[in-house]
Amino acid sequence: MRVAVFSVKPYDRASLTAASAGLPIEWDWFEPRLDRHTARLAEGATAINCFVNDQLDAATLDILAHQGVKLITLRCAGFNQVDLAAAARLSLPVVRVPEYSPHAVAEHAIGLVLTLDRRLHKAYNRVREGNFSLEGLLGFDLFGRTVGVVGTGRIGRCVAEILLGFGCRVLAFDPTPEPELTRRGVSYAPLDELLAASDIVTLHCPLKPTTRHLIDAAALARMKRGAMLINTSRGGLIDTPAVIEALKTGHLGHLGLDVYEEEADLFFDDHSNSVIQDDVFTRLLTFPNVVITAHQAFFTQNALDAIAAQTVRNLTHFDRSEPLEAVVRA
Ligand code: NAI
Repeated sequence: MRVAVFSVKPYDRASLTAASAGLPIEWDWFEPRLDRHTARLAEGATAINCFVNDQLDAATLDILAHQGVKLITLRCAGFNQVDLAAAARLSLPVVRVPEYSPHAVAEHAIGLVLTLDRRLHKAYNRVREGNFSLEGLLGFDLFGRTVGVVGTGRIGRCVAEILLGFGCRVLAFDPTPEPELTRRGVSYAPLDELLAASDIVTLHCPLKPTTRHLIDAAALARMKRGAMLINTSRGGLIDTPAVIEALKTGHLGHLGLDVYEEEADLFFDDHSNSVIQDDVFTRLLTFPNVVITAHQAFFTQNALDAIAAQTVRNLTHFDRSEPLEAVVRA
């Protein structure tokens, strides 16, 4: 079976090649992002394999289906980039990797919390320059702080458990609460209450029409003055200009991002020799209390191996006409 892989990086090639050793899968590697202009690269492929910033809108899916593509595989958990209604209309099943390493993302989110709290991003540079002053590096104990976890699915659950280990008071909001977390000491609360009570708010819910700009000016106003906001989920959960305003007034004390609403034109590529045109993003980079990583939370060897294994399993099931796992439905 021929599989056209889009947005491919050397580490994807290595893990997919290793996971498919001995299996009848022929990979076609394409560095460009999938969209309606690049879809024709998949000519002759039975399946395609995509990542978070590939654009699987109706026009792109239409081109793929007409070229004979029969299966869409995602090497990620999120699927907000796919027009599922269009895929269903074209009888194109969409399969994903629902769980590869929730720990990878959860641990990265905690890494952002600790970096911002203890100013590690500033301390690293300072010490290298021979500046051993502690001025401006004052942090706070995580022990005893209230942390709000928005979304307690696979990743949010791990985050909550790590935070309990730090001795934090953990509040959570999720339309489907997890009883096991309540037993372990997490308190579920309505979102507004969580925002008002938390010293740190960390987002782990999916991006969908009802969660777009979940954190807007009104939500930010409800948060404690000086609170920390962490987003390792999807950029669209946050209204970035509103967050910038809150940072400028000092109402928002710290911001840690691994995702950004307009990341598709920036992340995963080296732009260090070009002028970044996104003025909202560059404004974010000017704040001393903002740390941004470029959609790196998933990026552990464990996660890459698990993504490749599930992707190959998804393709093999399809090839053998076996029931598909991890199908995404509208
Ligand atoms: P999951 O599906 O296991 O959990 C999502 C949880 O969010 C569910 O419990 C659901 O009930 C809850 N939820 C839905 N609507 C909500 C709302 N309005 N408010 C609060 N909670 C709500 O998903 P998982 O695996 O925990 O992933 C969470 C998100 O993390 C994904 O949607 C994806 O966008 C993002 N992600 C980011 C990665 C990165 O590298 N930065 C890697 C993997 C996932």
